[in-house]
Amino acid sequence: MAFPENFLWGGATAANQCEGAYDEGGRGLANVDVAPAGKDRLAVVSGEKKMMGFDPNHYYPAKTGIDMYHHYREDIALFAEMGFKTYRLSIAWSRIFPNGDDAEPNEEGLAFYEDLFRCCREHNIEPLVTITHFDCPMHLIEQYGGWRNRKLIDFYKRLVTTLFSRYKGLVHYWLTFNEINMIFHLPWMGAGIAFEPGEDHESTEWKAVHHELVASAWATKIGHDIDPENKIGCMLAAGSFYPYSCRPEDVRAAQLDTQRELSLIDVQARGHYPAHTLRMLERKGIDLGMTEEDREVLAENTVDFISFSYYSTRTSAAPDTDAPRTQGNAFNGVKNPYLEQSQWGWAIDPLGFRITMNELYDRYEKPLLVVENGLGAKDELVPDGNGSYTVNDDYRIDYLRKHISALRDTITEDGVEVWGYTTWGPIDLVSAGSGQMSKRYGFIYVDRDDEGNGTLKRYRKKSFGWYKKVIATNGEDLA
Ligand code: BG6
Repeated sequence: MAFPENFLWGGATAANQCEGAYDEGGRGLANVDVAPAGKDRLAVVSGEKKMMGFDPNHYYPAKTGIDMYHHYREDIALFAEMGFKTYRLSIAWSRIFPNGDDAEPNEEGLAFYEDLFRCCREHNIEPLVTITHFDCPMHLIEQYGGWRNRKLIDFYKRLVTTLFSRYKGLVHYWLTFNEINMIFHLPWMGAGIAFEPGEDHESTEWKAVHHELVASAWATKIGHDIDPENKIGCMLAAGSFYPYSCRPEDVRAAQLDTQRELSLIDVQARGHYPAHTLRMLERKGIDLGMTEEDREVLAENTVDFISFSYYSTRTSAAPDTDAPRTQGNAFNGVKNPYLEQSQWGWAIDPLGFRITMNELYDRYEKPLLVVENGLGAKDELVPDGNGSYTVNDDYRIDYLRKHISALRDTITEDGVEVWGYTTWGPIDLVSAGSGQMSKRYGFIYVDRDDEGNGTLKRYRKKSFGWYKKVIATNGEDLA
């Protein structure tokens, strides 16, 4: 047998990219709401440009998303039709605590997710919940400076205690922070940070992420205390770093990039910062403000599994390189001449998926869970011959087939323990990087364009039937 029995096949979304209904059900405003589509997005999501509210000159796609807030029953039924074993989704923090520091949670928000989880269970779908996927209540940013402030640890503890208690028995798989290393690339998304003029970016990012790491360890402890059945994982934006050449300086550059990106998972999986990080912080005079209690909670509450997103590998070169750089991706490395690229300039590397999983398993010896993978591409809706519409997305099937095949080799030939695989955006949703709808990952097409026009009607693409067959055969039939 190739894939283990009970392998968790499914798909993954994030609240801010699909729910919409940003001001319904008592929800408070969040950082993700005010990230505009268009040319200013990158400056806002990387914390370089302050945008603390809406302005009339921008379009804000998260306000409406794909309106999953009102369509989730229909959408989960479509996931069930494909045979999903799991559905990864995230909680919008400001639906539960509209301001983040409220004494009591918002019942309407709690009830919304309870109903959604029950709906999953009715379809025998195991919910897999990301506690925060890039979102932070706006009030916590305005009042406390986002994750710069240690106080957020307590607000996060309040959030997780509420979630673990309320959804005990309904949810067993939890991720604490989506792509925790994204703070180094998109700090507004990763930690609600918009930099002040003259602020030392590196120092702020490390302090903020220390707070997140401590909060994550507390969540692991609280989650296990409330329900020992809970499995709690970290989440990495993964992708091995290749050296651009075998020149030692390029190899060293790849090693440094690897050490930096994995250093946070090192803390979550091993319980302490690696020596190279501590030395670097000391050299740069960055004081994390680590307390004895922080040290203990980190050491005693390591994660149960390592989850990650994988879209591509990255390539590193020494600073004096003249190699061309990649475009349009938060990691902004050097272009790998051996790899094809997507329409958005993301390298396509199925073997790199296997290399990445081996690297993570060798390093941590903990089970892996693939929680994002997929191809963002432009789709064309065409008549399906039965009075409806479809998309002939053979390019997407090809991408997924190659990656699932690499996953199978990793499990069967390399002996890596992998619990499951959820593709990114099984239903088209707003792109986190670009804010576009036209960068589509789904098996289900949503009639919505980059300016927010469209009926929101859902259509099954060709890949819908293909993924259904993959799941039905537990990964045996990838044809
Ligand atoms: C990951 C995020 O970085 O990549 C998702 O966890 C995101 O939120 C996904 O959507 C794909 O990136 P993009 O920019 O194509 O949406």
